[in-house]
Amino acid sequence: MEKFIVEGTGEGLRGNVKISGSKNAVLPILAACLLTPEVCEIRNVPPLSDVQYMAKLLQELGAQVFFDEEKEIMRVQAAEISSVEGLYEMARKMRASFLVAGALLGRCGCARLPLPGGCQIGSRPIDLHLKGFQVMGAKNKQEHGVVELQVKNLKGGEIYLDFPSVGATENILLAAALAKGETVIENAAAEPEICDLADFLREMGAHVEGDGTDTITIQGVKELHGATHTVIPDRIEAGTFMTAAAITGGDILLENVQEEHLRPVIAKLAECNVKTEMTEEGLRVYRKGKLHPVQVKTMPFPGFPTDMQAPFMSLMTVAKGTSVITETVFENRFIHAGELQRMGADIKIDSRSAVIEGVDTLTGTKVKATDLRAGAALILSALAAKGETEISDIYHIERGYHKIDEKLRAIGAHIRKENKENE
Ligand code: UD1
Repeated sequence: MEKFIVEGTGEGLRGNVKISGSKNAVLPILAACLLTPEVCEIRNVPPLSDVQYMAKLLQELGAQVFFDEEKEIMRVQAAEISSVEGLYEMARKMRASFLVAGALLGRCGCARLPLPGGCQIGSRPIDLHLKGFQVMGAKNKQEHGVVELQVKNLKGGEIYLDFPSVGATENILLAAALAKGETVIENAAAEPEICDLADFLREMGAHVEGDGTDTITIQGVKELHGATHTVIPDRIEAGTFMTAAAITGGDILLENVQEEHLRPVIAKLAECNVKTEMTEEGLRVYRKGKLHPVQVKTMPFPGFPTDMQAPFMSLMTVAKGTSVITETVFENRFIHAGELQRMGADIKIDSRSAVIEGVDTLTGTKVKATDLRAGAALILSALAAKGETEISDIYHIERGYHKIDEKLRAIGAHIRKENKENE
């Protein structure tokens, strides 16, 4: 079992970091490749385990996939769909595997996929995805943990989402691209990853309008063609490195970022007394004075991202004064608080809010990554802590951060990966 060993140096991180392509953007884009028999070329693809799972799933469905990890280019051709069935193993590993549902419905009119189930951060139902498909004429049956979707003639319709779910918006977009007539998604998610998917669909010949707002309109077309697309930079990876500069009192330059995607994080960091400057080379993030405590509430975009909640909690544990974080997107996303407490943080959880009293120092110890962003938060705390921190279950972290240890070492962090069982 691999672990990260991090030694707090008390020094600010300094130097340049190149941000990878967005994990959450590339996964639905890869699912969209199933919508055409022609070749799609996707660039800026981060070589992450979640991306590998998605590639494997596409292969199981009949697509040919070639991944040049060095160049970060993936080519997908689904000349024919030979199976519409996903494996439980895949759904268990990656909830986003359910994103192929919309594409399979659009291309073949049917899909048989294991229910993705809950995870550490909440129950994560798919009722909104199914509601959307139902409006489009698809029948769904659930038996033995598998959801079977079937439709003779997929048609457009008006779909109102009770919550602007990212996954449901993407799945409905994928299905609507090849549906007959017009689909309108109201109360749609407006995350940059939705816009990236819509851009790719347009490059394939789809008619999509309104992405980035709460109403998306799709005019279905008969067929889509192959396209080449470059994935947007990962705003959560960028936000995590920004927080690393903030927590260590460092000065780093992020290359390959889109400032407008980072607005909510930049605004909150400014309240914490962390400065950012967009330059020609990238986004500079630095802190010279003391950290200030803040109030944070997670919201759908353009609100503060729930994926940055855990990293921000780490930051707040060492900001003098009282901070309050309210999580409104997921019902159970404070599991990292327990691990941070083991490092000396003062955090009280009351339902959906966490009250954090800043402490002078955190201390290194053995901790466990419980999910992807919780794991990133532990690395951040470890960078600011006194002594050595050993982080286990780092496979969670590697689902979403490409070579995070190498990138951190390049800016002065003392972090190494060890296989503890082989010692
Ligand atoms: C995506 C991101 C994840 C991010 C989240 C919110 C990917 C691969 N993952 O997850 O990193 O944290 O957006 O920004 O892109 N919900 C329902 N019914 C549904 C669907 C969702 O009740 O059918 C609820 C969820 O339980 C959750 C909330 O809506 O409480 C938000 O979920 P959603 O936006 O769908 O997140 P994901 O697409 O799963």
